[in-house]
Amino acid sequence: MVRDVLIWPDPRLKAKAQAVAAVDAAVRKVVDDLIETMYAQDGVGLAAPQIAESRRIVVIDRRPQEDPEKPQEPIVLINPVLVGGKGEAIWNEGCLSVPGEFEDVKRFETITVRALNREGQPFEITDAAGLLGIALQHETDHLDGTLFVDRLSALKRELIKRRMKRLKNEMRAQGKTAKEILEEREAAEDGAAQEEAAL
Ligand code: NI
Repeated sequence: MVRDVLIWPDPRLKAKAQAVAAVDAAVRKVVDDLIETMYAQDGVGLAAPQIAESRRIVVIDRRPQEDPEKPQEPIVLINPVLVGGKGEAIWNEGCLSVPGEFEDVKRFETITVRALNREGQPFEITDAAGLLGIALQHETDHLDGTLFVDRLSALKRELIKRRMKRLKNEMRAQGKTAKEILEEREAAEDGAAQEEAAL
């Protein structure tokens, strides 16, 4: 089932998520909802707190963005633990809970993660780099109540917070999703740009 994604600021995004004690049917239902919601919103990753489930579960699929021709292949990580971060990388990050905003964030260049899969079996991804490495760090942050905006300057964070509050007000007033409002805004801006260029 496609679920609503919480938009920051929201206290439920700030909470530390609970560890999964057993990978049972209820946990797999959350996994399936996360995967469906991630694809519905064209996301590269999604963490359970973003759909108001305080559990340490994340899903990632970088393929639709890196190579849209490849079939969907979501990675499911339950109770993920980041172990060895190396180097430094700056990545222009976005987040489904902070729609329409992209900012440079400093992360480890490579990262190793240990987690359980959808069947509850332990696995490790060693020295993940590029978008996968960034997504692993971004999504695991969500489980500790940290968003990418928390890694920006206070000034940038406040500006984004104001825009998010305005977006949420528009969503409530117009009964639309964040995606719909942002797409309408973009279309209006394209129209204005074309009018300017036509002069
Ligand atoms: Ni995010």
